[in-house]
Amino acid sequence: MTNPSQPRRVVVLGAASAIAEAACRLLAQSGAHIALIGRDEARLKIIAADLKLRGAEATFTLARDLAATDDPAATLELCAREIGAIDTVLIFYGVLGDQSRAEVELSEAKRLLNVNFTSPALWALAAVPHVEKAGARGVILTATSVAGDRGRRSNFIYGAAKGGLSVLMQGLAHRFGAKPGGPRAVDLKLGFVDTPMTAHLPKGGPLWATPAGLAPIIVAALERGGPVVYAPWFWRFVMLAIRLTPHAIFKRVNL
Ligand SMILES: NC(=O)c1ccc[n+]([C@@H]2O[C@H](COP(=O)([O-])OP(=O)(O)OC[C@H]3O[C@@H](n4cnc5c(N)ncnc54)[C@H](OP(=O)(O)O)[C@@H]3O)[C@@H](O)[C@H]2O)c1
Repeated sequence: MTNPSQPRRVVVLGAASAIAEAACRLLAQSGAHIALIGRDEARLKIIAADLKLRGAEATFTLARDLAATDDPAATLELCAREIGAIDTVLIFYGVLGDQSRAEVELSEAKRLLNVNFTSPALWALAAVPHVEKAGARGVILTATSVAGDRGRRSNFIYGAAKGGLSVLMQGLAHRFGAKPGGPRAVDLKLGFVDTPMTAHLPKGGPLWATPAGLAPIIVAALERGGPVVYAPWFWRFVMLAIRLTPHAIFKRVNL
């Protein structure tokens, strides 16, 4: 059993994500050491200063296009030197993209698959030696999506990428679980969340969550549970129903 009150040493990939920022605010309260990586250096510095005020013991910022980083392993080594070690890796970057454009422009489809699957998969693999070194305290958590549970015509390219990442994380969890005292891999399957990513969508209703509402679920998932965590919990049952719907019926539903 890990000690939840012991400050974590965290690398956040996609640290400007609204959901990641909300989770980091809670981690900061327990004195976490946090390395923030994202594209917008000015924004990262503002987030880092806020996290210090909230109690983070140390912060480090690094500007990187995470989908175009040649050497994730070297970047994580740099973070480990800056914050002492790494026991927690949060992978939160992603893009929703434009499905109809990606269906006709394969370069756009390739971009979506790279940002949402290939590159985060490589970062997760590069994180393995660090979390293994941390033993039972080690954890890799990726923000995937309920969109990965069943392909549907409005967003199956994004969904395929997230679904692929879910399988990778479940495989890592299986591998880690083979030995007692090893680290954990957590596949965080998110439903609708009110963030800049969904700014263009109509909001409201019980299916919508907020980053602040999800933060305690994420921090709790670092300590226990999983390897698959639906957030909020009811999506597990919504997606079970969607997965079990026969194709003959599903094809008539405009989703
Ligand atoms: N919001 C939802 O309803 C929802 C649902 C299911 C899953 N998710 C997943 O949750 C995660 C967090 O999203 P969010 O809702 O918090 O949206 P968000 O606030 O828009 O965050 C997405 C972040 O990804 C970063 N990013 C995109 N491409 C990047 C790249 N190549 N290199 C570095 N950073 C990059 C963006 O940085 P820039 O600011 O530089 O563009 C942005 O900070 C994503 O993986 C998303 O797919 C969200």
